[in-house]
Amino acid sequence: MPIRNKPDQWGVISIGLHWLTLLLILGLASVGLLMVELPLGTFKVQVYALHKSFGLTVLALTLLRLGWRLVASAPAPVAGTPRWQDAIAKITHGGLYALLVAVPLSGWLFNSAAGFPLHWFGLFKVPSLHAYDSDIKAFAHSAHVSLFYAMAALLVLHAAAALFHHYRLHDRTLVRMLPLMKNRTEET
Ligand code: HEM
Repeated sequence: MPIRNKPDQWGVISIGLHWLTLLLILGLASVGLLMVELPLGTFKVQVYALHKSFGLTVLALTLLRLGWRLVASAPAPVAGTPRWQDAIAKITHGGLYALLVAVPLSGWLFNSAAGFPLHWFGLFKVPSLHAYDSDIKAFAHSAHVSLFYAMAALLVLHAAAALFHHYRLHDRTLVRMLPLMKNRTEET
């Protein structure tokens, strides 16, 4: 597997960041939805702290990923992809990147406007984005929840499209994003 992306293959850095982000989002979503129901106490505070630290990690990884995409560019759509499908894919991917930034940012803003402290895995203090403000707190909270549901909807669409390419169109769209898959062009 190449380090950099190639015109017909994702490289190891993009593949790693893609699947690591998915894993983190699945964990953050399930823990996020469950943690709000926990009874008040030390355990709840610890779970919230982990949610916030992993959420900030997603923000950092997404910025890294966007930077890497600028440097290493993205492979072209697989041959024969109709223009309309490519346009929908580009809009979905753009929306997902925007939400991967906006969801953690809204959580960070909510946490700041609520006046809660923020430490990344207890290692260092993360600056506050805003002083205590109940209006901004309410706005950021509803943004965090609504943007999360928009992200979930786009994720389902994105995964359905990948499976459609694999099982219906039998092309390499999904395979070239999987680790340890040998690129057919390397075999020839
Ligand atoms: C991609 C990253 C993130 C995802 C997918 C995510 C997802 C979620 C979800 C699904 C909830 C439950 C919403 C509800 O039903 O009330 C939640 C709650 C929460 N999130 Fe996040 N989150 C992310 C990042 C962050 C970050 C970076 C912070 C803060 C630095 C944060 C702070 C919070 C807080 C404080 C709550 C609890 C809100 C309450 O108590 O009502 N989140 N998050």
